Amino acid sequence: MKVLVIGGGAREHALCRSLSLDPDVTAVHCAPGNAGIGEVAELHSVDALDGAAVARLARELDAGLVVVGPEAPLVAGVADAVRAAGIPCFGPSREAAVLEGSKAFAKDVMAAAGVPTARSYVCTNAAEIDEALDAFGAPYVVKDDGLAAGKGVVVTDDVAAARAHALVCERVVIEEYLDGPEVSLFAVTDGETVVPLTPAQDFKRALDGDAGPNTGGMGAYSPLPWADPKLVDDVLNTVLQPTVDELRRRGTPFSGLLYAGLAITSRGVRVIEFNARFGDPETQVVLARLRTPLAGLLLHAAKGTLADAPPLRWHEDAAVTVVVASHNYPDTPRTGDPIGGLADVADQDAPYAYVLHAGTRREGDDVVSAGGRVLSVTATGKDLREARERAYAAVGRIRLDGSHHRTDIAGAAAEAS
Ligand code: AMP
Ligand code: GLY
Repeated sequence: MKVLVIGGGAREHALCRSLSLDPDVTAVHCAPGNAGIGEVAELHSVDALDGAAVARLARELDAGLVVVGPEAPLVAGVADAVRAAGIPCFGPSREAAVLEGSKAFAKDVMAAAGVPTARSYVCTNAAEIDEALDAFGAPYVVKDDGLAAGKGVVVTDDVAAARAHALVCERVVIEEYLDGPEVSLFAVTDGETVVPLTPAQDFKRALDGDAGPNTGGMGAYSPLPWADPKLVDDVLNTVLQPTVDELRRRGTPFSGLLYAGLAITSRGVRVIEFNARFGDPETQVVLARLRTPLAGLLLHAAKGTLADAPPLRWHEDAAVTVVVASHNYPDTPRTGDPIGGLADVADQDAPYAYVLHAGTRREGDDVVSAGGRVLSVTATGKDLREARERAYAAVGRIRLDGSHHRTDIAGAAAEAS
């Protein structure tokens, strides 16, 4: 089978890498890709938001499966266009992707499905904003209703900052603060059957010790030795399956990757957010641990035959990924800096640690930074401690002027396990 992956981040690099290792896959194509993806897939240029163009490319390539990585093309209806052309596509329809595209819609679905989440108000003017901030008190949680690549959320004790963020959003969701550790749990679904993957933890803040601003994610690890062994089953029964059932009931079945961002609070599991796609950087560690070949699983979801898929198999190994971000990320990241040390990682750390590219591009013989999150170094090991040591050893070989990364990814979990 030939597979076309849409997107060009570290998540897509991880997807393309896994697909390239799948014996059933004869060719991996990616559009637009990046400098690293070009090593495991053939790259094509396409406007990823143009469904007709993506469908045309898929037909030209004779792709048997299209996998849409990022949220923007999903919300733009790219999966619908590919399916309309008769090509199986992994990724929800435009209507179902609104689960990620609008936080207010997600809250409505959760209320209808009885899914536990933070209490919230949707506000559209200053009076409503003040009332909601008052009702919940500090810490304040203020979320732009639209897509904001993980950066539309402000969590703060400062009411003036909370108010200022709320006032610049057209529609804003203000909600109860959820305490407790966060877990990302992904599920593959065809709109009916739901297959959870293994849980991971993401590090959203820019700096060590969860300081600094929210980012798209600075690192991740899996498994979670501290989590209740019943967590996945509980979340399947109380969150994932009811949400998929509710969307089907509404006539907008969700097929693709349902990402539940969860808080494990003192009062039980609560949904922080849903995403309609694989998370980045959690995908890097989840796929590093997946033994089941990826293409068959995604194809079953795309074709509506997930109930026939064999049970998933996982490696015992742990996985850790550390994001290397450019100077000034997440503010206004500087780009165009040469990246050194990539060959050293390939020589000295493979196969246990490897670089997945995010914002990179080729410039002559050089690979240069082209985005805020530049790359993520992923490593596996017999436990989190070993995976973490390998990941940081490889990060130490990367040379990128002005770059920064967190030094505490999986640190506490590795200590405790
Ligand atoms: P979101 O884009 O909704 O995932 O929010 C980004 C990050 O903000 C989350 O990963 C949490 O760290 C934090 N956050 C969001 N909602 C809440 C909440 N209700 N309580 C505490 N933290 C939250
Ligand atoms: N890791 C957070 C996200 O993908 O949204």
